[in-house]
Amino acid sequence: MSDSKPTLTTRQGHPVYNNQQSRTVSDRGPATLENYQLLEKIGHFDRERIPERVVHARGFVSHGEFEAYGTIGNEPASTYTRAKLFQQAGKKTPVTVRFSTVIGGRDSSEVARDPRGFAVKFRTEDGNWDLVGNNLPVFFIRDALKFPDVIHSLKPDPVTFRQEPNRIFDFMSQTPESMHMLSFLFSPRGIPSDYRHMDGFGVNTYRLVNAAGEGVLVKFHWKTQQGITSLTQAEADAIQATELGSASKDLYEAIENGGYPQWELCVQIMSDDAHPELDFDPLDDTKTWPEDAFPLRKAGMMTLNRNLTDHHNENEQSAFGTGVLVDGIDFSDDKMLVGRTFSYSDTQRHRVGPNYLQLPVNAPRPGVQVNTNQGGGAMSYGVDSRGANPHINYEPSSLAGLAEADESYREYRPHVEGPVLRAPIERENNYAQVGQRWRNEMAQSERDDLVLNLATLLGQCERSIQERMVAHLTKCDAEYGRLVGLGLGIDPGTLDIEALVKVR
Ligand code: HEM
Repeated sequence: MSDSKPTLTTRQGHPVYNNQQSRTVSDRGPATLENYQLLEKIGHFDRERIPERVVHARGFVSHGEFEAYGTIGNEPASTYTRAKLFQQAGKKTPVTVRFSTVIGGRDSSEVARDPRGFAVKFRTEDGNWDLVGNNLPVFFIRDALKFPDVIHSLKPDPVTFRQEPNRIFDFMSQTPESMHMLSFLFSPRGIPSDYRHMDGFGVNTYRLVNAAGEGVLVKFHWKTQQGITSLTQAEADAIQATELGSASKDLYEAIENGGYPQWELCVQIMSDDAHPELDFDPLDDTKTWPEDAFPLRKAGMMTLNRNLTDHHNENEQSAFGTGVLVDGIDFSDDKMLVGRTFSYSDTQRHRVGPNYLQLPVNAPRPGVQVNTNQGGGAMSYGVDSRGANPHINYEPSSLAGLAEADESYREYRPHVEGPVLRAPIERENNYAQVGQRWRNEMAQSERDDLVLNLATLLGQCERSIQERMVAHLTKCDAEYGRLVGLGLGIDPGTLDIEALVKVR
């Protein structure tokens, strides 16, 4: 036994004097069943994995801090929100960030054409706030009911287990609201060169609420201070030929070497109403809010300066969710946001376990009181404080126990009325913003790359699917449709566009 190294033990703390040989009857066996050390070691190994995330399975975690400016644009932050983390200039809040890809499994390529997840956990004095976003500003769908379908179409075929363009575009060509997201995803923005060189977006619309109880609609943006850089499909193919974890490696090494990446948090704000003057619905996550009308207002800077110490504990077991908000930040009626808010903590109770919030990576920061009457469940570790009398695990009680917070914590109270029904939103407008982006915001090289990437994958699809896609793209912009059609040998002039884009 070496003097300088700590002694190897079992999980029971019993010293292990031989870690090379099992306990056997004579040197050739058989092994004995009471060999606790062997059983514990292999039994634990058998359980090393937890279920991988159903989406965003491959990711990487880093830690750091968010420094508030005390202002939001030119106004004191308090004008818009009472959330404590934003109030004073220079106030620092610890953060944990998980970047991810979406569709691939836990060991898949990090240069896949895929959105990138951008999930931030702010460890505030009022408990955690999770801002769970992506690197692209819009999403494929606008109603949570469609999420399992869009993901099934993008995931491998349930029989052959291969990702199939025919399945993807079968679904997308009957989901016109996906054209905006597809036009980002198949442009160079669809393969960020790594996690440091991309922006982040909350995508869904939230509310900010101030001390007077007034709310505004808000969209969150993270602006990379490293610049946005992307890969062509050919560059990505060359990287993934030899390296699947290039983005994690880049981030880990940058932080190890003291090159701390930064993102500036900006918000767009709208008054809290339906905005009938706009040609889109502010709660529609397939749309961006034009920055000339709704300027980006700066709120603070995030710096990642500390690497994780254990991938399983801090990455696999980490849990982010859209329901995790602090006082001063609230939900909007965005139909996707409601579905997401159910989904995250539901899957985490299954994936990590019912006590996932007791794990250090998910628990509020030390000093934040967690006082509940919840208890039990698998792997219960700490017991939440129940106040002076541990016998009282219910509320109300005249004997002791916990008391409700004061009215200053009351949520925002929107007024909502209308029939309960199932209906699409009125202002679907699925094509206008895509055409504007194609014509006004993309460089020629980006348009060329988009057309090439779409035509390459659509080339593997059935004719009827190709025609539907060309029809949608023609509705976005005639030239866009013509060029993708050219790559497929389809002249949009010969198509009955209106019949093809009709969903049902
Ligand atoms: C209704 C639509 C959606 C549903 C039902 C949904 C559901 C899920 C689920 C079940 C997970 C796995 C969580 C876990 O196992 O911990 C996940 C992860 C994630 N989702 Fe969504 N999602 C939706 C839309 C979106 C959108 C629009 C965005 C981007 C704004 C997004 C960003 C993410 C990110 C970043 C993660 C990874 C979180 C992490 O790093 O642990 N999702 N989503």
